[in-house]
Formats: sequence, structure tokens, C-alpha cells
Amino acid sequence: MEDLHGKRAYIIGGSSGIGLAIAEHLARHRGTDIVLFGRSLSKLKKAQQQLAPGVASPRQVNCLSVDVDNEEAVNVCMTEAMRTFGRPDILVLSAGTTATKRFVELSAEDFNGVLQTNVQGTVNCLRALMPEMVKTGGKIMLVSSLAGFMGIFGYSAYCASKFALVGLAESLRWELEETPVDLCVLCPPEVATPLIELEKETIPKETRAAKDLLGTLEAEYVAAKAVSGMLKGKFVIIPGFKARLMYLVSRVLPKNLIYRLTLKMVALTMPKN
Ligand SMILES: NC(=O)c1ccc[n+]([C@@H]2O[C@H](COP(=O)([O-])OP(=O)(O)OC[C@H]3O[C@@H](n4cnc5c(N)ncnc54)[C@H](OP(=O)(O)O)[C@@H]3O)[C@@H](O)[C@H]2O)c1
Repeated sequence: MEDLHGKRAYIIGGSSGIGLAIAEHLARHRGTDIVLFGRSLSKLKKAQQQLAPGVASPRQVNCLSVDVDNEEAVNVCMTEAMRTFGRPDILVLSAGTTATKRFVELSAEDFNGVLQTNVQGTVNCLRALMPEMVKTGGKIMLVSSLAGFMGIFGYSAYCASKFALVGLAESLRWELEETPVDLCVLCPPEVATPLIELEKETIPKETRAAKDLLGTLEAEYVAAKAVSGMLKGKFVIIPGFKARLMYLVSRVLPKNLIYRLTLKMVALTMPKN
């Protein structure tokens, strides 16, 4: 398997959750240099401290604050990052958010905010970094979700954004075919992160029941699967046996049948009130 020791990974959305777990895995187990990106400098500093004990030198982990929603800020930040630390060999695009409610209860601001961060934020980072990576080669990981393949009650904004990322990944993969850049898309089911805590207050019971069918994974497990999948050259990386099974079944059975079966299973498991 490819040696990532001394390579440089930019982890966008690296101050928390899946991004932080991938950073930790790369830094501790693969000796990779890390640059973490996120909006909150205090979260970034805390993440940097969390990674410090397992790395060879404090200079191995750095961080920069940026809001991926803002294209100009992304361009300025990534130019500075590349001048200071050098081009990324690995780019993980994990910045993301959700607004989990029935569509009719979602404000336009909530809906658009999810698309802005999850889709436009990813595009902004790709625009700033991909042309540079194409010159020397590297690996890009988009972070979509299992919700990028199947619509879920209460996830209209989230699913719209995650479906968009799968489409984006499929197009870019093809366009990058003749370049030294490999691209993959990570599509986990639910993962125990602060994002899940955030949605607890508003999540409809139907959404909760649908997600419970597949269970919740730990971020460290997802990170290990993400990195090994990327190094094996997988395009779609789906951590977790149940999630992979669901994905495969959804590829072969007619959509309508999947929908009816899911409704039945959710109805059986949903708490009665
Ligand atoms: N947790 C799950 O169940 C799950 C499942 C499948 C896929 N995913 C996807 O995995 C990715 C990471 O989610 P997570 O669960 O790890 O969430 P998380 O713990 O909330 O982490 C999100 C990260 O993104 C950063 N971020 C959010 N908005 C940003 C913005 N506008 N600009 C820059 N950075 C921003 C956050 O830092 P700041 O807030 O400081 O900016 C944080 O570092 C998301 O794309 C999510 O959709 C999550």
C-alpha cells in the first residue's frame, strides 16, 4: 500500500467529527503532515492539541480558519496555505452541515445554507486546489453520505446536497482520468459526531427510525475505512456492512420496491405514540 509518510493532507472540516478522525488516522498511523481547515479557530486549535501527542513533531499538524461558503475567502486562504505549507498530496473535503426537518418546516435560509456549505463549499475548495494538484498528482476525497444515494424523510436539503456531491464526483472522476489525481467519494451511514448532536433537537421520528435501520458507526472506524479505501483506489467508499448491503440492494432492486420495503421496515421499528 502507498506510503503516506511525509505527504501533506489538507483536511477541510478537519476540526471535528469525520474530518478530524481522518486527520488523526493519517497523522498517527501513516505519518502524514496535516493542515486542518474550519471556521472556528478555537475548534481548530483544540483539534491541533488533540493530534499533538501522537505525532513526531508539532510542526506536523497546522491549521487555518476559513469559511468554505465564501469563494473569495477560500481562494485567499488556499493560496496562503500552499505558500506556507506547500500543495496538498491529499485533499479531504469534509466540511458539511445539515438541517433536519420536514421540507415544509425548513426556512429557505436553512435549505440554502445546507446546499451552500455542502455543495458550493466543496466546489469552492476544489476550484482553489484541484488545478494545482493536477500538476503534481494526489488524491481527492469528497465526503457525501449514504444519503447521497437514497432520499430520506426529513433530509430534503441534506439529500439534495449529498446527491449533488455524488454526481459531482462521478463527473470529476471521468475528467481526471488522464491526470495524476485519483478521486473518491466517502458515503457513510450515520456516524457519531457533533453533527448528529446538532440534529437531535429537530429530527423527525421517521428520520430517526430510518437511520436506526443501519446503526451508527464510530468516526475512528469510518476514518480507517476511508483511508484504506482511498489507498486501494476505490471510487465509492461505504464503511459498515449494513450500509454496504443497503447500497448494493438499492443498486439491483427497483427503486419503487426499495421505497415500499423501507416504509414497511420503518413503520415496524418506529415508536408508537
Ligand atoms: N455524522 C454523520 O452521520 C455523517 C454521515 C455521512 C456523512 N457525513 C458528512 O461528513 C462530513 C463531516 O460531518 P461530521 O459528522 O464530521 O460533522 P462535524 O463533526 O460537525 O464536522 C463538520 C466540520 O466541518 C466544518 N465546517 C462546517 N461548516 C463549515 C464552513 N462553512 N466552512 C468551513 N468549515 C466548516 C466544522 O468546523 P466549523 O464549524 O468550525 O466550521 C467541522 O470541522 C459532512 O459533510 C457530513 O455531511 C456525516
